[in-house]
Amino acid sequence: MRLRKKKGVADKLLNFDFVLNGLDDSRRGHWAQSFANPDQPLNIELGIGKGDFISTIAERNPDINFVGFEAEATVLYAAARKVRDLQLNNVRLAVFNVADIDQIFDPNEVDRIYINFCDPWPRNKHAKRRLTNINFLDKYRRIIKPDGQLHFKTDNRPLFDYSLEQFAALNLTVDQISFDLHADQPVDNIQTEYERKFSALGTPINRCVVHF
Ligand SMILES: C[S@@+](CC[C@H](N)C(=O)[O-])C[C@H]1O[C@@H](n2cnc3c(N)ncnc32)[C@H](O)[C@@H]1O
Repeated sequence: MRLRKKKGVADKLLNFDFVLNGLDDSRRGHWAQSFANPDQPLNIELGIGKGDFISTIAERNPDINFVGFEAEATVLYAAARKVRDLQLNNVRLAVFNVADIDQIFDPNEVDRIYINFCDPWPRNKHAKRRLTNINFLDKYRRIIKPDGQLHFKTDNRPLFDYSLEQFAALNLTVDQISFDLHADQPVDNIQTEYERKFSALGTPINRCVVHF
């Protein structure tokens, strides 16, 4: 019997010209040239999951360029299909561990960062893996423009409290703090996959905006 070889996800990702395969530091300082409209602001999302958020916000904001990073190729593949189906020319995606985010952007290259429902890493010994740990914030500070913003949402209250402490430790200004985002009914909130999942369980959603 002839078995059909199953195509790997890495191979499938090669079919999308907006997926940046084998991302290295060669775009550093030149990210604008990755887009059809290089003069637009550059926003990035860290840990995009299946891409509900980045595909929606990019569709609503064609005058902003977006790059989405995700560690898992299989998850990014789901996001890539959404970007393709919506024919978004202002989105680029990459399988990439954002622990190295400061290696691939120049200082002041990024206008805004989104972190939605990052892994909470609840054990203290793993605190350095949280995407709002001070070491990560320091990397973001290196690549973001002065007064650039980090928009952060999480269902996890201990992670949110920890994050507020980390922002304070770097003397960063934080505003638009909400401990129950949906009760505050923001008109322009874009729900992520995890946000829908947790709010359906009755978990309040925390959100804030951090100014660098
Ligand atoms: C809990 S999910 C949330 C997904 C999505 N943001 C949402 O709100 O629905 C966290 C995602 O971040 C990704 N992730 C975790 N650590 C990462 C890292 N260091 N670099 C890139 N992606 C990461 C995971 O693979 C996962 O898809």
